Amino acid sequence: MTGLDLTGRRALVTGAAQGLGEGMAAALAAAGARVAVADVQDDLGAKVAASLGDEHLFVHLDVTDDDGWSSAIGTAVDRLGGLDILVNNAGIEITSLLVDLDPAQVRAQLDVNVLGTALGLKHGLRTMRPGGAAGGGGVIINVASVAATIAFPGISVYSATKSAVDRLTRVAAMESGKLGYGVRVNCIYPGLVPTAMGAGLANDVAEIGLFGSAQEAVEAVVALTPSGRLGEVSDMADVVVFLASDAARFITGAGLAVDGGMGM
Ligand SMILES: NC(=O)c1ccc[n+]([C@@H]2O[C@H](COP(=O)([O-])OP(=O)(O)OC[C@H]3O[C@@H](n4cnc5c(N)ncnc54)[C@H](O)[C@@H]3O)[C@@H](O)[C@H]2O)c1
Repeated sequence: MTGLDLTGRRALVTGAAQGLGEGMAAALAAAGARVAVADVQDDLGAKVAASLGDEHLFVHLDVTDDDGWSSAIGTAVDRLGGLDILVNNAGIEITSLLVDLDPAQVRAQLDVNVLGTALGLKHGLRTMRPGGAAGGGGVIINVASVAATIAFPGISVYSATKSAVDRLTRVAAMESGKLGYGVRVNCIYPGLVPTAMGAGLANDVAEIGLFGSAQEAVEAVVALTPSGRLGEVSDMADVVVFLASDAARFITGAGLAVDGGMGM
């Protein structure tokens, strides 16, 4: 489908030093976009950007830092000559039963997953709307989770933050449309993918006694999944390319489950 060609587009992906974000950055680059790899992990992020090629770059970005967003997006716009695609992918997950919640861990997840995504929307919309530093409209893709659509034990606060990402997406799409920003805003709900976070989650739910082992936790997830397997990084990355592309030109305010059917 020619609509999936991203030649000439400029993208920034948060949390792109590893895992899903790295895969999304690589898939956007493979589709023709020039990509700013943004992360708090400078060494790893710079390696990812270098592996994509000379026309791509690394920018340091802590998504919870309002000024950091101005600076990272400014650098991306300067170096890439604009910005058409923003993927708000950075996120953290800290497993805990509700009865054991640690307020600092709750706040950390709210900060990165909710504030980080909200600030991404703020700066992405400001930059891409008419009169902004890029100004030609564009696309924002937020990364929620299947956790926003099911009730899996041990991840209550994480699930709540991902439900918040879902609502941020819908309101952002509405504001963008009503105010003529020309920016489509959508989110995806990935199923479990064995990245550092996904594998860690399986270990942690076993460690707090919800499953006999990490393997049992994985088997429980697979048993709930009509497609009969865990997700892969490329499953998520390909959908991000689709949503970023002209093939998705009439899709905004949508949440797309990419979970093999687990959350239906
Ligand atoms: N892996 C899964 O099973 C899964 C499932 C559903 C949703 N998700 C979501 O997908 C996204 C990526 O997950 P992943 O599995 O690749 O996780 P990961 O832990 O492997 O990678 C997350 C990346 O985000 C970066 N990051 C963390 N805090 C940051 C901050 N404050 N500012 C900038 N970067 C920051 C990390 O440095 C890391 O590079 C997350 O939003 C996660 O919630 C993951």
